[in-house]
Amino acid sequence: MSVETVVEPGSKHNIKAARQAYYDKISKFHMTPLWEVLKDLVTPEPKTSLKPALWKFADVKRLMMEAGEVITAEEAERRVLVLENPGMPGKSRITNSLFSGIQLILPGEIADVHRHVSSAIRFVLEGEGAYTAVEGEKSQMKHGDFIITANWAPHDHGNPGKQPVMWLDVLDMPTVNHFEASFAEHFDEKMQKTDHEDGDSFERYASGVLPDGMPAMTNRSPVINYPYAKMRPILTRLKDTGDIDKRHGARVRYANPINGGPVLPTMGAYLALLPKGFAGEPYRSTDGTIFACAEGHGTTIIDGKPFEWGVNDVFVIPPWKRYSHNAASESVLFSISDRPAQEALGLWREGN
Ligand SMILES: [Fe+2]
Repeated sequence: MSVETVVEPGSKHNIKAARQAYYDKISKFHMTPLWEVLKDLVTPEPKTSLKPALWKFADVKRLMMEAGEVITAEEAERRVLVLENPGMPGKSRITNSLFSGIQLILPGEIADVHRHVSSAIRFVLEGEGAYTAVEGEKSQMKHGDFIITANWAPHDHGNPGKQPVMWLDVLDMPTVNHFEASFAEHFDEKMQKTDHEDGDSFERYASGVLPDGMPAMTNRSPVINYPYAKMRPILTRLKDTGDIDKRHGARVRYANPINGGPVLPTMGAYLALLPKGFAGEPYRSTDGTIFACAEGHGTTIIDGKPFEWGVNDVFVIPPWKRYSHNAASESVLFSISDRPAQEALGLWREGN
């Protein structure tokens, strides 16, 4: 090969071809060049294929009730419509780490007791008369209640009432499956025995005292249900004294009363009151966040686009996308994300 041919335009092609031949050769040994993918692996800022999205409750309810006609809760095991992020269709997830769905239980139905490694939370949207039984406590489900089902906790649902009941489910399934650490188990009986009455764990653990001699429970909260009726007045107290964050509003974090930590190691949740006319300052963080509106209506600008929400609407903000809340009337937003997991790993960042 002469010097002239090396500097000719064709030489680039030759280098490319030589590299490709080399890549083909090493691929037979299950090796691949890092330098071809490094820029996509170590990005200067978070990169996501997730999209912001909003589910209007009117649509969700109509379609959910249709599901009630085509399948029973028993046949489905859990009658849930997955809220799938439009940026990741077919992946059964709303963010990379979290699953989210809407569950419906009709009067007279039960959803059998089972347990799994994935932790779950329920945020009750509409209807009354259903219960979730977790670890021996039978918890009545009311609008705005926040119910946790920790890793491996037996749980079943039932609706002896007269109304269809719908709630938001959020589970860390994609995180568990990322680690390929999933286990699940069914029981012979349909319902677990419940000897703890409604509200027992809240009264027992979240009243400023703790049962003496109880085992340390630091990676999850012992409280099963954080009732909206107990949380909502705290938001009003914060608002009335002006304790309103310029980005998040008057906000409380659902906490483990044993150590003040998150309710679950993989998921953390908040409840925020936005006063009427609230115009939030821009915010972003590395935890993709799911919101559900418990009261009021308003607009959240996500990555420059407005998303209008009302009662029981659900929306999602991808990681590191800038957003700001605006409330047209006094509003309450529930939110949940994988922040505790990111914090435990030293990954979590926030900005404006
Ligand atoms: Fe479950």
